[in-house]
Amino acid sequence: MIQQLSATKKSFHEALQQCTDFNSLKKLSLAYLGRKGIINNFLYQMVNKTDEEKKRVGKEINELKMQIEVEIKHSEQTILNQSEDTWIDVTFPGRKRKKGSVHLTTTALEEINHIFERLGFTRVRYREVEWEYFAFEALNMPKNHPARDDFETFFIEGDEDKTYGKIVLTPHTSSGQVREMMRVKKPPIKMINIAKCYRRNWDITHTPMFHQFEGLCIDKNINLTHLKGTIEYFVREFFDDRRKVRFRPFHFQFTEPSFELDISCDICDGSGMKKDALCRVCKSGWLELGGAGMVHPNVLKAGGIDPTIYTGWAFGFGVERNFMMKQGLKLDDVRILYNGDIRFLQQF
Ligand code: PHE
Repeated sequence: MIQQLSATKKSFHEALQQCTDFNSLKKLSLAYLGRKGIINNFLYQMVNKTDEEKKRVGKEINELKMQIEVEIKHSEQTILNQSEDTWIDVTFPGRKRKKGSVHLTTTALEEINHIFERLGFTRVRYREVEWEYFAFEALNMPKNHPARDDFETFFIEGDEDKTYGKIVLTPHTSSGQVREMMRVKKPPIKMINIAKCYRRNWDITHTPMFHQFEGLCIDKNINLTHLKGTIEYFVREFFDDRRKVRFRPFHFQFTEPSFELDISCDICDGSGMKKDALCRVCKSGWLELGGAGMVHPNVLKAGGIDPTIYTGWAFGFGVERNFMMKQGLKLDDVRILYNGDIRFLQQF
């Protein structure tokens, strides 16, 4: 037994020489000091030995055990010291941190906001969760009017209010028109309302949440030439000064007369043709900006403004649409704007 112990001591020292890292040291420690390790094995063998032998050999085993423990600790310290001394290459290139960027819709919102601010418009925001009244009735669309269908509205479950009706997710920023009239009370009003809107639409050209920006201008003697001038300024600033604007007759319940506004396409320079074929982007030379018109007298009345004294105009355009037109972006599927795919987003 004593001989075996000294052989073990020798083999331990040899093995220890080979240990140059924490991993191998840990393995060695387990092999000798572990529950099923060499030292314990010796101890088990002592069970059937005489008392006198137990005393003598047991002492030797314990001494060996302590020695192994001390030497392993010592080696651990040596390895630790060595790793602290490790040479560092200060010329090694650093790790680049990933930088976030602003979403392209946010960029567009800010730009639009600044353009209208320069014209003296005040930016406001109204509720995304709104009474049916402000989205429809106040805008000259009484209960059960078929024009409401155009706005594919989300309704919120809950009690109905006698005057204000149901609760909706606002389907357009026009619901801010009457709220703004009620807030300002006395014209002049020059509002720019940029906000989220919601409609029951989900396909390659629609997301259920999107953004609109709504302009509203009310004062004495306000007419369509002011609207045209404002839109032309916006188009020059947001797009470029080669673009033309046209008014195309249309219908909205809350404006009279009503229009849709188009800008000339920059891919085909407004000709509608590209290399003897129809322009792929616009097919007609024109791209639709959005709706506009002179505020209907009933809407002014709903906002507490006397339509015999004041007139006004309003327009409402889609942010995503305009932004894509500006960038010449033709997305196969606009839903990519909001599905959070970083590979798409980091390009902007
Ligand atoms: N609210 C209309 C829409 O969402 C756009 C519009 C706004 C039209 C203001 C006229 C005046 O389609």
